[in-house]
Amino acid sequence: MAAAKNPLTLGAEKFHVSPFLRRPTGGAGIILGVLKDNLANVEDRIARACLRSGRRRGEITLIAVTKVFPAGVILEAHSLGMRDFGENYVQEFEGKHPAVKDLPGARFHLIGHLQSNKSRKAAELFHVIQTVDSAKLARRLNESANPLDVMIEVKLSEEESKAGASPDEVPDLVAAIRECANLRLLGLMTMPPWSDDPEPSRPYFRGLKELGDRVGVASLSMGMSHDFEVAIEEGATHIRVGTALFGKRKKPL
Ligand SMILES: Cc1ncc(COP(=O)(O)O)c(C=O)c1O
Repeated sequence: MAAAKNPLTLGAEKFHVSPFLRRPTGGAGIILGVLKDNLANVEDRIARACLRSGRRRGEITLIAVTKVFPAGVILEAHSLGMRDFGENYVQEFEGKHPAVKDLPGARFHLIGHLQSNKSRKAAELFHVIQTVDSAKLARRLNESANPLDVMIEVKLSEEESKAGASPDEVPDLVAAIRECANLRLLGLMTMPPWSDDPEPSRPYFRGLKELGDRVGVASLSMGMSHDFEVAIEEGATHIRVGTALFGKRKKPL
C-alpha cells in the first residue's frame, strides 16, 4: 500500500534545497512538473479545509510567496494559473519587476515590513501593500499617483522581532487609512509565532478574525505552508504559501 502522502515530502521538498533556486530562468519541464504537483497538493489541502469549514474555494486567494526565487519562477507559476504573488523586499522585487510586470491578471503583494522611505517605490511596484502598520506609512503611501490596496499588519504576539500595529492601535489606523483618498483598505494581515504544529496558530487567527469583525473589514491574510488549513477554518481570505509550492528557501544547517 502506498504510504500516506505528506505534502512536505512531495515535489520540491524531496530536494535538499528548492530546485527553483538553482537556475535563473526558464522552464525545464521537470521543474514545471514539480511545481504542478505541488500546486495540485496545495489545492487539495485548500479544498479539504474549505469542506471542513463550509467555505467556498472562491472565498480564498492563494498568494504564491516567491521571495528569493528568480523571476522565471513567477512566470512558470503564472503559466500554471497562479495570479497572486507575495514578495518580502521592495529592492528584491524591483529586480524581477521588468520580467513580470505585464503578466496578464498578475497581482503583486508586499508582505514584508515596509519602511516609510521605500513607500514611493513600493507603491509603484505592488498592487497590494499588506504591511501597513502606522498612520505615517499610510500617509506616505497615499502620496502615490495610483490608487493602492492596503492591509494593516497586526502584531498579535509579544515577539520582539515581529512587526505590525498592536490590536489597540488598529481602530485609529483604520480611521487614518479611510481618510486617505488613494488607499483602499482591504483588511488585516498577521503572522503568528512560528511553530511546526499548526494548532498553536489557531488562537492568533481567531483573534485576527474577531478584530476584523470589530473594525468592519472583510479580508484576512493569514496562514502559511504549515498552517493555512487552520487559517481557512478560522476565516482567512488570503493565504500566503511559499515552501509548499516552491520548496525550501534555505539549505538545512
Ligand atoms: C509574511 C510571510 N508570509 C508567508 C510566507 C510564506 O511562508 P512559507 O514558506 O512557510 O509558506 C513568508 C515567508 O517568508 C512570509 O514572510
